[in-house]
Amino acid sequence: MIHECDLVVVGGGIAGLFTALEASKSCKVAVVSKVHVTRSHSVAAQGGIAASLGNEEEDRWEWHMFDTVKGSDYLADQDMVEILAKEAPAAIVALERMGVPFSRNAAGKIEQRRFGGHTRNFGEVPVKRACYASDRTGRAIMDTLYDQCLRRRVEFFNEVFIMKLLFRDGRCIGAAGYDIADCTPQIFQTKAIVLATGGCGRIFKVTSNGYASTGDGFGLTLEAGVPLEDMEFVQFHPTGIYGLGILVSEAARAEGGVLTNGRGERFMERYAPTLKELAPRDIISRAILTETREGRGVNGADFVHLDLRGIGKERLRQKLPEITSLIQTYLGIDSSEGMIPVAPTCHYMMGGIPTDAEGHVLTNQCGAQVFGLYAIGECACVSVHGANRLGCNSLIDLVVFGKRVGVNTAKYAEDNGLLPLPPDSESDVENTINNLLGAHGDSRVPVIREAMQRVMADKCSVFRDRDGLTKALAVIRELKQKYANLNLANKSKRFNYELQEAIELGNMLKTAEGIVFSALNREESRGAHFRNDYSERNDDEWLKHTLVYASNEDLKVRYKPVLITKFPPEKRRY
Ligand code: FUM
Repeated sequence: MIHECDLVVVGGGIAGLFTALEASKSCKVAVVSKVHVTRSHSVAAQGGIAASLGNEEEDRWEWHMFDTVKGSDYLADQDMVEILAKEAPAAIVALERMGVPFSRNAAGKIEQRRFGGHTRNFGEVPVKRACYASDRTGRAIMDTLYDQCLRRRVEFFNEVFIMKLLFRDGRCIGAAGYDIADCTPQIFQTKAIVLATGGCGRIFKVTSNGYASTGDGFGLTLEAGVPLEDMEFVQFHPTGIYGLGILVSEAARAEGGVLTNGRGERFMERYAPTLKELAPRDIISRAILTETREGRGVNGADFVHLDLRGIGKERLRQKLPEITSLIQTYLGIDSSEGMIPVAPTCHYMMGGIPTDAEGHVLTNQCGAQVFGLYAIGECACVSVHGANRLGCNSLIDLVVFGKRVGVNTAKYAEDNGLLPLPPDSESDVENTINNLLGAHGDSRVPVIREAMQRVMADKCSVFRDRDGLTKALAVIRELKQKYANLNLANKSKRFNYELQEAIELGNMLKTAEGIVFSALNREESRGAHFRNDYSERNDDEWLKHTLVYASNEDLKVRYKPVLITKFPPEKRRY
């Protein structure tokens, strides 16, 4: 089936919906999502969305900008961070006017809480900058945006999986996929495509990400010959429920939760004497693993405790209902009485598809654009998070840049017409599906996926080194060979999730290879990328962005400079 529209947004999380909403003011927009849109991973965002509104205490966008740049370990492009910090307050007001049910303070204003790495006066003390809706901020924003999109007649294609971008004369003119319900090809003929496909936490064994976070946009982009930027920077959130990875929001520490090791010591006092539990995530994740590796985990195991008992039952109920209920459900622990076992969990990709401030996808270090192709959100790298993202800066990134991408793509759609699709678009999809269903190899999807998740967790997570990364690269390449020899047990075309998982696995393997290759090449430690064999940041040689490209023989990397405007690199102290 062929669908025509001005703009197709692939992915229906907050980034996709905000972009769609903005663009729908002047053009016909379709959102295509492999899950029902309201189940997109953005709904899992808990703690808040950052903006220097100053509703609780003095705050300024310059402080927000400084914190973001410092938090990024100076790898973020400062012109982009300036846009983020300056435009954030207006973005929150826009969300409020659409109806997002933010929590309110006694004066009736949007309430704000502290969050990791956000400070007053260039690093002095934590500042209340995170706007929130209890601990269900993502859900509150998603539902509001979905309502608004319906009101504006944005068309939704739920449970349609995009497998290929279509190009003509170097311009992106469509996308090809299939309906998960029955495998019928779904071809979109459009003036522009926006990728808003989210992250790829599912590459790792333990993650806070939903099952849908399989890096599909990364796979599509690499396949199209476009590079990925800064993929070595993978964020581990310090407080995942031990063993499960489910997020326990930083809001829990903002509300007064503390981290203790097996000796009952509040160990963050040693690692970040000023900010303690509200230091940036890379620092806390390393601190937790250092404690457990040196034998100071709880009962000698590889977790520490998050202690929320001091917050009190009533405040926990008001401020953290979602996480206390998750903790009760999964661990049987009442957070007002017992301590919670936590360990770092894969949470966020700082890197992604390189874009400029308007979301144009960039193909090289000189900033050449791919016409008709845009990216936004976690799958994109507009370079505001650098080597380590601060909590609450992802949601604001989606809204600030979502607006810009929406405006810009609508303009592009006004100025450009539809182009003819490749004649074999539908049969290509059918062939890909039939080939996968008919394959008679001896490799199974879950076996390859588990091996990938294990090696990524063991060799490419919080601590890395050359030997481990080299091993990981070899394993991922072996797994890619096995992937070429798949056998699916389920041959049906009705809701065949094994088929879907096979395609997702292909995207994850490509992405994993890009992450490991970029990490192996970066011989320094910066933000979330910590190399035991190069344990210092090295600005002389490595203050630059990685671009990793897929090619037939091997991957290749190129580098491009970081844009520094207001804040020259300094040593990070918290
Ligand atoms: O801890 C959290 O609530 C996560 C927030 C974020 O990743 O921005």
